[in-house]
Amino acid sequence: MTQKESELRQYDWTFQGANSREGVHSIHPYPAKFIPQIPHQLIEIYADSKSDVVFDPFCGSGTALVEAMKKGHSSIGVDVHPLACLISRVKTRPLPDDFGNRAREIITSVRNRYPGDVEPPDLPNIDHWFKKPIQQALTLIIDELEQVENQPTKEALQVALSSIIVRVSNQDSNTRYAAVEKDVTAEDVLQKFSQASSKIESAFKKNSEWRRNSATCDVLNENILEVEPSDIPQKVDLVITSPPYPNAYEYWLYHKYRMYWLGLADPTEVKENEIGARPHYQGSNPRDETDFEERMVSLFDLLRDITTEDATASFVVGRSVIQGEEVDNGKLLERAADAAGFYTADSASRSIPSNTKSFNPGYSKIKDEKILTFKKL
Ligand SMILES: C[S@@+](CC[C@H](N)C(=O)[O-])C[C@H]1O[C@@H](n2cnc3c(N)ncnc32)[C@H](O)[C@@H]1O
Repeated sequence: MTQKESELRQYDWTFQGANSREGVHSIHPYPAKFIPQIPHQLIEIYADSKSDVVFDPFCGSGTALVEAMKKGHSSIGVDVHPLACLISRVKTRPLPDDFGNRAREIITSVRNRYPGDVEPPDLPNIDHWFKKPIQQALTLIIDELEQVENQPTKEALQVALSSIIVRVSNQDSNTRYAAVEKDVTAEDVLQKFSQASSKIESAFKKNSEWRRNSATCDVLNENILEVEPSDIPQKVDLVITSPPYPNAYEYWLYHKYRMYWLGLADPTEVKENEIGARPHYQGSNPRDETDFEERMVSLFDLLRDITTEDATASFVVGRSVIQGEEVDNGKLLERAADAAGFYTADSASRSIPSNTKSFNPGYSKIKDEKILTFKKL
């Protein structure tokens, strides 16, 4: 393909200065999430009609699913991380009418009950990461949440609570896993929970008009490598995704205490199935890049079966550092796609703004990524 023929290279994918936190996109932090402008632009380029279905096999916090819905497309997302699926579900359905009142009732009730007679859960190292009054306030909020019967309301409240857990813990920040002295009280927990709930309410008000369209969204909490074609409810026209890079981000670690507090899953079990998690690349029998490539071949095998004949599969992918060596994940993806009967139809590169933070210092030095679009041979 010549430079001229590339559709992707006609755009500046950096989106410098664009607001990436508009509406529901800002209700919960998530590592390595798409800026919404990327899936939005890919849908603009590749969708032929409103009936085109969008699929994100690594949907994370649901950015591509939300952008699909905004444009009236039904979508399907898969993620191994239960918190990712919780956030995606909440973002892609209407906010229940009773959400605000339930949040306020919980806050009043916890204020009346504090310090209360409920025991904090038996979480690993809880005293290292949470001061006693914080443990007590969180335990009371969770106890109140358990009594919320309407599941969509409960899940939206869980997202509000999850979004504040790192801030009220002793953890330095979302990207720095070290305990520091913080001046946080039980009342701060309630205030932050109240602010997070109000933020969700106003985010949904901003996004109210596109929620009236008939697009549907299915979110599956699965290891993509174990998904069968029959698990995917509709034929897919557009795949839009950003895969987990080998030895880069650690989603299970980033969300470890959120998962513990919400009782979503054992984070160490999520780690086992998380493609790319750093522990898999360390120790006596470390994985290497061929392992990532093989996993991506399995993904493309699935994509071949669930997509329409003229479907496009767009991946946003950067490089990794494995055992001190820089690895071009884009090349690995191209090889995997080729092995599964796809070809590279278009590509472009984008630079990552220099303020992006990561748990992995080696990774944060890498400042560009590729956008690759594959089609079936
Ligand atoms: C780059 S992030 C996706 C972020 C997403 N685009 C967003 O905007 O929030 C990659 C995702 O892959 C998920 N993941 C890792 N291994 C997986 C697996 N085996 N099956 C499904 N999802 C997996 C991680 O949990 C993470 O959410």
